[in-house]
Amino acid sequence: MAAQSRQVRIGMIGYGQMGRIHAYAYRAIPIFYDPLPAEPVLQAVADVVPGVAERAAARAGFSWHTEDWRRVVESPDVDVIDICTPNSEHLPVLEAAIAAGKHIYCEKPLCTNLKDAQRILQAATKAGILHQIVAEYRFLPALMRARDMVREGLLGEIFHFRGLYLHAGYVDPRRPIAWRLRREATGGGVLMDLGPHIIDQMRVLVGNASEVQGNLETFIRQRPLAERPNEMGSVDVEDSAQALLRFPGGAVGSLEVSRCATGAEDELRVEVHGSRGAIRFNLMDPNWLYWYDLGKPEAERGFTRVATVQRYPAPAVAPAPKFSIGWTRAHVASQFSLVESIASGRQPVPSFADAVAMHAHIDAIYRSAAGAGWTAVPHVE
Ligand SMILES: NC(=O)c1ccc[n+]([C@@H]2O[C@H](COP(=O)([O-])OP(=O)(O)OC[C@H]3O[C@@H](n4cnc5c(N)ncnc54)[C@H](O)[C@@H]3O)[C@@H](O)[C@H]2O)c1
Repeated sequence: MAAQSRQVRIGMIGYGQMGRIHAYAYRAIPIFYDPLPAEPVLQAVADVVPGVAERAAARAGFSWHTEDWRRVVESPDVDVIDICTPNSEHLPVLEAAIAAGKHIYCEKPLCTNLKDAQRILQAATKAGILHQIVAEYRFLPALMRARDMVREGLLGEIFHFRGLYLHAGYVDPRRPIAWRLRREATGGGVLMDLGPHIIDQMRVLVGNASEVQGNLETFIRQRPLAERPNEMGSVDVEDSAQALLRFPGGAVGSLEVSRCATGAEDELRVEVHGSRGAIRFNLMDPNWLYWYDLGKPEAERGFTRVATVQRYPAPAVAPAPKFSIGWTRAHVASQFSLVESIASGRQPVPSFADAVAMHAHIDAIYRSAAGAGWTAVPHVE
């Protein structure tokens, strides 16, 4: 391996599901990439639940741990704050990290509303820090190829974008009300949870929508409380969200997100139809991008499977391109991009400006569903 000129020291805030995945991904970077632009170092971890950060340090290899995230943000031995807390807990950490001049890698959604997201983008820009929002599907080879094909004009003029992100985890009415089912902790339901991912893919493939018409539904309105399972509480967020879309260039489309899509596991689907061809992708079949080429003779036409598998550009060296891909590999690639950008002093992509655009679409869909009908998506910074 080439000698490393520098380190990027990570301070992680929140060590639940995503904290574990991010820690795994940082550890994989020096194994999967050669040469390394910089070495990611698991420096510090904070979690508010007693014992969690201590176990994280012991198992994942952070140098030190604490229950108080402010210690991590204020520590001179940390370069990047990686935010993996529930949505409403992003804001105080973002504000403190920007004030401390740290670079930031933040889980989606950036904030719980558009206004806060705009304020954070402005503060981050003013402070001159580098910032990345987690949108790992940008780093899956099939969706990277899809973006290139649209840009290369292989689909021609775009007519339709169709995006779905379906989960089934809330079909069971016994699933208790924990933070994801509380508006004060999330800013919304499935649209705030799965919406950022599918909106990001929409923006990557066909751009910002100009207008949306939204529709929300909550199927299971009473659930047991997580902290008192014998007591029922009211659910104040949506289980399902749909939106019709219009794009500035004349294309139309739809988005659908649900956590009550019985039978779904982690089903992010995109379909794009244009004047020269079409593409389809399903995250449950992540090794292939399906391509229909209208330029072929009629007798040869049909959707063909393009093997995108694990084809990452250099300096990715492992696993070899032919091996089947999974969700965690996209996180490794996303975090490699963060480390590479910080090592070269470049603003990472997707940035907090992309996060604000996600919020702008979510905000417009919520306003539309509340009675505004077709609603313009604000193009804000
Ligand atoms: N990119 C993705 O694919 C993806 C997938 C799932 C979740 N997420 C996002 O990741 C974030 C975390 O989700 P999760 O599933 O890991 O949640 P989780 O509940 O599994 O973990 C959150 C952790 O944060 C800790 N925590 C809460 N408040 C804290 C505070 N003030 N200080 C320190 N620690 C605190 C909790 O104790 C817990 O360990 C959310 O914003 C969510 O939207 C992203």
